[in-house]
Amino acid sequence: MMDWTDRHCRYLHRLLSRHTLLYTEMVTAPALVRGGALHLLDFNAEEHPVALQLGGSDPAELAKAAKLGQAAGYDEINLNCGCPSDRVQSGTFGAILMQDPGLVAECVRAMREAVDIEVTVKCRIGVDDQIAEDVLPEFLSRVGAAGCGRFTIHARKAWLQGLSPKENRDIPPLDYGLVQQMRGLFSGLHLSVNGGVTTLDQAEAFLAAGLDGVMIGRSAYHDPASVLIDADRRIFGDTAPGHTAEGAVLAMLPYIEAHLASGGKLAQVTRHMLGLFQGRPGARVWRRMLSEGAHRKGAGTALVEQALAAFEQAQAEAADSDAA
Ligand SMILES: Cc1cc2nc3c(=O)[nH]c(=O)nc-3n(C[C@H](O)[C@H](O)[C@H](O)COP(=O)(O)O)c2cc1C
Repeated sequence: MMDWTDRHCRYLHRLLSRHTLLYTEMVTAPALVRGGALHLLDFNAEEHPVALQLGGSDPAELAKAAKLGQAAGYDEINLNCGCPSDRVQSGTFGAILMQDPGLVAECVRAMREAVDIEVTVKCRIGVDDQIAEDVLPEFLSRVGAAGCGRFTIHARKAWLQGLSPKENRDIPPLDYGLVQQMRGLFSGLHLSVNGGVTTLDQAEAFLAAGLDGVMIGRSAYHDPASVLIDADRRIFGDTAPGHTAEGAVLAMLPYIEAHLASGGKLAQVTRHMLGLFQGRPGARVWRRMLSEGAHRKGAGTALVEQALAAFEQAQAEAADSDAA
């Protein structure tokens, strides 16, 4: 998610879940191919499985960008056909591509020819006054025929005029039923649903209803422990114990040390950790200590350890008052 997630966030999320597929934020093909911004591809080996999401609409340029992604070690290349922002529209990529399934098919074909790893697409159910019931099956059919076997469908339209990107994630109504219908029409495609899913209960219900996957965005960011910690057991059937949220904090300490030693700043990592204890007693003191302290000069892992101790103290006090 652009401006929210990055490699530090994915490192944390991978500590919480071994099996969920993680995505980069959208990286534009022009930035990689014309701008040479190869640092945008940096990631840690621990993040696997991880997909590189590309933005673009020029088949040759996307093919080059996909090759760079494959060479960097990504497990999958995903094409963004869902982002509605103005900046993205002016570059003719993102959700506006829902209007041109032929071009998306060309892009997918070019990327498939360029790389051996899987090429997937994230899309909307349509844009503006398109009839989603017509547009979505045509899109899946044409892009699927070009070699995309896996789609993630954000189950709402994007309105390209008049709504901000944020509004476009909330205002157009969700139509899960339509995504479900696509399941019936395209039995050979792997279809994941996205949009408005906040819990693993909801995710399990979609899987039980026949969908192949569920993508969770904002809730996984704001409340990563609730969404990710139980996903390995509940969704992937792996019962091996993983990290608790507290354990993940401790496991982040060497990562943070290495980041600081290479000239990075504490807040670049801890900003993704603020929601780790969401909904639990002590969550507020954890969040406050990190958000107030991480920007201070010289702030390091000691702050994270102090914030964890304060959280644990608040937990103990809450347990005592429950018992009283
Ligand atoms: C700040 C922010 C940035 C986003 N950036 C991207 C992006 O780079 N690529 C993408 O496919 N979706 C992006 N999205 C959309 C999410 O992936 C997701 O489709 C949307 O939030 C709906 O799912 P959710 O209700 O689970 O969050 C972004 C969402 C947010 C909140």
